[in-house]
Amino acid sequence: MSMQGRSCIVTGGGSGIGRAIVQSLSSAGFNCLIVGRREQPLMETASLCESTSGTVVPLVADVSCPDDVGGVIAQAMDQHGRLDGIVNNAAGGGLMPFPSWTMSQLTDLWKTNVLGPAALVLEAWPHLLESGGRIVNISSMAVLGPFPGNGAYGMTKAALDGMTRAIDVDASDSGVEAYSIAPGAVETEMLRSLVDDSQLPPAKAMSPAEIAQVTRDCLEGARSSDAGKVLYAPIPGFVTTDPEEAMVALGRFHSS
Ligand SMILES: NC(=O)c1ccc[n+]([C@@H]2O[C@H](COP(=O)([O-])OP(=O)(O)OC[C@H]3O[C@@H](n4cnc5c(N)ncnc54)[C@H](OP(=O)(O)O)[C@@H]3O)[C@@H](O)[C@H]2O)c1
Repeated sequence: MSMQGRSCIVTGGGSGIGRAIVQSLSSAGFNCLIVGRREQPLMETASLCESTSGTVVPLVADVSCPDDVGGVIAQAMDQHGRLDGIVNNAAGGGLMPFPSWTMSQLTDLWKTNVLGPAALVLEAWPHLLESGGRIVNISSMAVLGPFPGNGAYGMTKAALDGMTRAIDVDASDSGVEAYSIAPGAVETEMLRSLVDDSQLPPAKAMSPAEIAQVTRDCLEGARSSDAGKVLYAPIPGFVTTDPEEAMVALGRFHSS
């Protein structure tokens, strides 16, 4: 199905999974507004997509900052005149073993990983209603099985999954669909800031393109029967909405 002329916002589109999502969506014809705090990585993503059928427009903004969020939606509407999708992909992480958490660290994490995505969805809601749009929240297998020090991050992703379910329960007749996608380890800057090759060999990490494909399926309507759910993508080539199945697959993959 051609997505030519559809428009979406991808936060964190300058690197890792976000960049792969933008490459996939713009190839499918989506016009993408890509958001991040650093301009250079966003420009690099845009230049990688120069020959795709959809346009890619970078916007420097911080999703954790309420003042920036309104500008993101306004810019998407000015640029493309409609909004068909939001991919809440930007996130913060870092190892924070309990009980060394500080309230300042937790607040920063929640602002980026939960409150920013919620603010974007709320601001975009009238436009999503108009287009019958779709929301994809990039969650994490850390909700079900965090590795040591990663639980505070997992906590924020559990809240993001809660937003996916809330939209499904409270707005089921709106025509807007929401999904969470919860990847296992994916080869990105974020992963390598947490674990090195000896702790997690590259062969045990997924390619960002795998998560991009699941995201694109959601935005194109190929996963409508899973709307409102968490799509667990724990290991290469496997997606399930069953959390137990996801954990079993993850355990087998990492012990083999
Ligand atoms: N890699 C994995 O193994 C893995 C596993 C499960 C889930 N995930 C999730 O996948 C998503 C993408 O992560 P990644 O692994 O691709 O990491 P990444 O390469 O570090 O990407 C994170 C992106 O988010 C942007 N970002 C961070 N804070 C932001 C803010 N306040 N405002 C706007 N943009 C912000 C960053 O750009 P700037 O720094 O320029 O702002 C960066 O481009 C995240 O939601 C992550 O939690 C990753």
